[in-house]
Amino acid sequence: MRVSESRLHQLVAAKLTAAGLDPSDAGAVADVLTFADLRGIHSHGALRTEYYAERIAKGGITIHPDVRWERTGASSGVLHGDNGVGHALARRAMEEAIMLARECGVAVVGVRKMSHSGALSYYTEQAAAAGLVAVATCQSDPMVVPFGGSEVYYGTNPIAFSAPGVGTELISFDMATTVQAWGKVLSAQEAGEDIPDDWAVDERGRPTTDPDDVEALVPVAGPKGYGLAMMVDVLSGVLLGLPFGKDVTSMYADMRRGRDLGQLHIVIDPGRFTAAETFREMISKTRSELNGLRPAPGFDRVLFPGQDKELIRARYERDGIEIDDDILEYLESDVIHRNAFEQT
Ligand code: NAI
Repeated sequence: MRVSESRLHQLVAAKLTAAGLDPSDAGAVADVLTFADLRGIHSHGALRTEYYAERIAKGGITIHPDVRWERTGASSGVLHGDNGVGHALARRAMEEAIMLARECGVAVVGVRKMSHSGALSYYTEQAAAAGLVAVATCQSDPMVVPFGGSEVYYGTNPIAFSAPGVGTELISFDMATTVQAWGKVLSAQEAGEDIPDDWAVDERGRPTTDPDDVEALVPVAGPKGYGLAMMVDVLSGVLLGLPFGKDVTSMYADMRRGRDLGQLHIVIDPGRFTAAETFREMISKTRSELNGLRPAPGFDRVLFPGQDKELIRARYERDGIEIDDDILEYLESDVIHRNAFEQT
């Protein structure tokens, strides 16, 4: 079914308020989920509302967190999140990082103890909208084998990067460090379809095409994606004194406890390194030069990173956002959650 951005936002915010969140925090979550759906990142959109509602209702997200901002140096700080809702904390941490980067030229800000924060480019694009360059990383639950291993250690540990161009133009790159998301394996299971042999491994660490045999996902590009996942875990977990590696909490285990996750934002003021306007012009030039390259056979054109999402956004703004019927049905119902997510 198709739904407008404002209607989707209103439904998500209302559901999370009904689950117990303060309206301002529910609005922050709705902002990030709607941002994701509007760009076709449905894995991190309104689909997640019921999971968050269940975790809120069971106490695994602190409804009134004791949030504390600690400036730890000239250009660094930590937002202590008390396991409040991740989207509101990550957004606030980026606001602090933007102010610090304007003051100092660069800023490194961590969020310590938070719940899941969704699509990371929401936060890096906050910085790009302020004329700044940003990188964000965060931890996620262990479900990935290291290159050459048959036991899970890291999560799908995402990395996002955004840089401002002229006006509202930007470049935004945002990826999980795995070949594919867990959700895609679940979809194949439901559809009774095989998966490509480079997505996941079975319990002995062998590549599998049977979604029912999947024990773990694999990093993108073998040892290189594995190394990136390690980097993300060090930056957003070890650096913040949080559980790391295989000790990161699972999304669906014990919904009564906070997740103790970490996220890191690195923000750079381009004006401290080159003329800010020139930088923006060069980012816009990067976009147009990439678009102007000769496409490979089978491709219409070369897109710059993030352009696939911009194209979806233009279509959805015109025609409405495509949302699965069962998700809308849930959002429009009186049900807060159906106890559907916790794994014992
Ligand atoms: P994806 O595979 O859809 O896209 C990865 C990147 O490739 C994007 O920047 C996209 O714009 C770019 N791209 C895709 N097709 C392109 C093309 N034809 N030409 C040029 N660029 C192209 O993203 P993925 O890896 O599935 O991640 C989805 C989301 O999940 C992200 O927003 C990520 O932050 C989020 N995530 C969040 C986690 C969390 O715990 N908070 C954990 C894992 C992922």
